[in-house]
Amino acid sequence: MINTQIQENRKNIALKNQYHLKYHDKINLGAFYTPTEYVDIVWGMIKPFLNYKSIVLDSSCGYGNFFDYQINYPKKANDIDVIATNQTKNNFPEIDVYSKNALLNVDRKMFDISDNNELIVIGNPPYNDITSIIRNGIKRDNLEIDPDIKTRDFGMSFLLSYVKLNAEIICVLHPLSYLIKKSNFNLLKKFTDNYRLIDGIVIDSGTFKETSKGISFPILIALYKKEKFGMNYNYIKNYKFKTISNKIFSLNDFDFIPNYINKYPLKNIKPNGNDILFWTMRDINALKRNRTFVDEFGYNTIIIDKNKLDYYVYVDVFKQFSHLIPYYFGNLDVFINNEEFKKYKDYFIYECLTRNSFLKDYIQYNKNISLQEAKEIIINYFKSLIGNHYAYQNN
Ligand SMILES: C[S@@+](CC[C@H](N)C(=O)[O-])C[C@H]1O[C@@H](n2cnc3c(N)ncnc32)[C@H](O)[C@@H]1O
Repeated sequence: MINTQIQENRKNIALKNQYHLKYHDKINLGAFYTPTEYVDIVWGMIKPFLNYKSIVLDSSCGYGNFFDYQINYPKKANDIDVIATNQTKNNFPEIDVYSKNALLNVDRKMFDISDNNELIVIGNPPYNDITSIIRNGIKRDNLEIDPDIKTRDFGMSFLLSYVKLNAEIICVLHPLSYLIKKSNFNLLKKFTDNYRLIDGIVIDSGTFKETSKGISFPILIALYKKEKFGMNYNYIKNYKFKTISNKIFSLNDFDFIPNYINKYPLKNIKPNGNDILFWTMRDINALKRNRTFVDEFGYNTIIIDKNKLDYYVYVDVFKQFSHLIPYYFGNLDVFINNEEFKKYKDYFIYECLTRNSFLKDYIQYNKNISLQEAKEIIINYFKSLIGNHYAYQNN
């Protein structure tokens, strides 16, 4: 993927992480620099669209990593962080550098871009869920954002800001969840109505050194082109996503557990003593972090419909074996092959009961199974469920 010529042409400057920032400020600004390997992929993707009218802008440039690529087109860089933009000016004296809030009073004039230019936006805007930021008490909530692009996530607001800039091409890194989670996709309506994903490579958040503290999640290096009819969610469901290790998947490859059981708590229902409780299901990464069966009732608990207890058992076993699932499925719902599951259900139940013996009062089980046998069968089930994605969890 990386052209050696490009490597040779690379400027011999130290583009380090934004080391002037303290850890909390880095979180605040989402300031994590992008490895050159990904920068090269971005330039490779936009190259076919460059022409005499093009201007390339990174409106959240940090130290300017995305400009560490030898190519002769007009370029503009911006970051809200003045120390970072001063560094960018030092690194790249030939580039127009601005120090503005890229989400406030957004229009082309703020970067002196004329209507005649074809704007190509590149970069790695911050992605931070603002609600979790505020909840954790470590992130600020006082950044002013134009009301028409305000969302609960800075990254989504950045995507909407590119619509206001009337970009022709957008090639940025963002969490895959912006597209594949229907609720996010809907929040991006002004963006998705006007832009279509035409290429994309899924990479692992764990490869960004300082963000790798939690569970890895998929990031998409996404190439969007302005199109009259944009894209709808069906387009995303059918889209064949490619990972950096050349795996291909689409959402339509899978049958998901919410097709069988209720994902969220029902309102205004209180449990009685005989109820079984389960933690609310979100995506696979949330399942990895959270519990499954729980004792106490709360706003995050589901009361299990006992006729469907076997599917909750499935989810519990899925969590237990989730290390077999690669990072790029982390934001999907739990998925299932229902026909296969029905065939091997006894083994799932057996394995689950060894960890949750209280369930023996509620579900029939086969006593003539050994745990070893159950585990082998479950692993085989996962092998066939995940197919050629099996055991690629670290890629
Ligand atoms: C993930 S970093 C990416 C930096 C750079 N593009 C790179 O890959 O090395 C995100 C950058 O966005 C900047 N930023 C955050 N909020 C901003 C805003 N409202 N306007 C402009 N820049 C912002 C941060 O200061 C940080 O440098």
